[in-house]
Amino acid sequence: MHALSVLVASLLGLSSLVVAAEYPFDVTTISAPDGSITAKFVSVGATMTELWVKDKFGKARDIILGYDDNSRLLTDTDHPVFNPIVGRYANRIRNGTFSIPITKEPQPDGPNVFHIPTNDHNNEDTLHGGLLGWDRRNWTAVSKSKTSVTFHHLDPADEGFPGTVHAFATHTVENGGILKTTIHATATEKTPIMLTQHIYWNLDAFQGSDNILNHHLHVDSSKVVAVDGDAIPTGEFIDVSGTVFDFRETEKIGFRFNETVGLCGAPCQGYDHCFIYDHDHTVKPGVTLWSDVSGIKLDITTNNPAVQVYTAYWLNTPRKAVHGGPNTTYSSFSAVAIEQEGYIDAINTPEWGIDQIYGPGRDFEWSSTYKFSVVH
Ligand SMILES: *[C@@H]1O[C@H](CO)[C@@H](O)[C@H](O)[C@H]1NC(C)=O
Ligand SMILES: *[C@@H]1O[C@H](CO)[C@@H](O)[C@H](O)[C@H]1NC(C)=O
Ligand SMILES: *[C@@H]1O[C@H](CO)[C@@H](O)[C@H](O)[C@H]1NC(C)=O
Ligand SMILES: *[C@@H]1O[C@H](CO)[C@@H](O)[C@H](O)[C@H]1NC(C)=O
Repeated sequence: MHALSVLVASLLGLSSLVVAAEYPFDVTTISAPDGSITAKFVSVGATMTELWVKDKFGKARDIILGYDDNSRLLTDTDHPVFNPIVGRYANRIRNGTFSIPITKEPQPDGPNVFHIPTNDHNNEDTLHGGLLGWDRRNWTAVSKSKTSVTFHHLDPADEGFPGTVHAFATHTVENGGILKTTIHATATEKTPIMLTQHIYWNLDAFQGSDNILNHHLHVDSSKVVAVDGDAIPTGEFIDVSGTVFDFRETEKIGFRFNETVGLCGAPCQGYDHCFIYDHDHTVKPGVTLWSDVSGIKLDITTNNPAVQVYTAYWLNTPRKAVHGGPNTTYSSFSAVAIEQEGYIDAINTPEWGIDQIYGPGRDFEWSSTYKFSVVH
């Protein structure tokens, strides 16, 4: 900003307005009093842009992917979805179509059938809420403290979904290396709601390793949603026993990686799958991830019944400077996205008997807690 405009703005009492116009990607920083964890957020998507925790040597690392220029959240045509809240309906919707009440294959012109713009697999389905999902909408920071920030999003029937939804997402850090995100959403009409927080983890922060294939992973799941070539559920589940999906005993992510070619849709290698939890994980972690290199260990508890594990085959984005960018890129397997969520496309899979329709008298609640520690 020019000195003259600073002067004029401050004389007029407009300095905050001018700064907001010049730096539209307002950053909010929260830190735990004990210094164990610091997180940064922008209003667009209620997105986490940095997350710093200490490694086994006591040095802080930024363990999530992102951009140095946060405006890329809106303009990156690859749209990797770096760490926002995803909604109104995360993951895929078959043919961008659903009905209320839900039916197996809604007729295009049937009663109470809704069409959401398609943006995935040659526009054969909807991914992450439509053309402009919640991750690319600007939320409003409605309260802030040194350890917490709450963002509000008003979705007035955007993208063809029915009814107005108000969502409040609160991110909080606590002593002992804890990050907690909760979302409360209310709707004025019956509507599907299925949200996730789409965080890409690399617990080494690109110091000592370049990918997550040697990260150790535990997932409490004996069944994975079987999908077709468009990554839409067939209605069946894969029994993980004896397969590359079995992380009930901790394994390195790459433990049978050669056998994962094509599993996430040719030529994709690795995982992009919805694992159904075997137990409630509001208290005991459903997912644990750690790296021997940094020693950083992550335990996740959640009120969600499932988790999407995506090993980021399709990544090709310049790295943040702190990760060695911009002349190096995030590429396949640079990170693992671990997305706490509902059963994917349950709104087109009535045989599961999962109710994802919210509205008057039924609010939507989402919460996940990320607890960091170190292993030596
Ligand atoms: C988003 O809204 C906030 C106010 O809540 C504002 O400060 C910021 O500049 C906006 N960001 C963009 C990219 O429009
Ligand atoms: C997909 O939805 C469109 C309307 O958006 C409809 O014309 C078409 O028949 C549907 N296809 C299938 C396979 O259901
Ligand atoms: C596994 O894949 C790697 C390259 O990704 C290759 O070097 C190795 O030979 C493969 N192993 C088997 C058993 O196919
Ligand atoms: C990145 O590459 C550009 C163009 O080759 C070069 O000018 C610049 O110095 C490089 N930056 C770093 C940090 O290596």
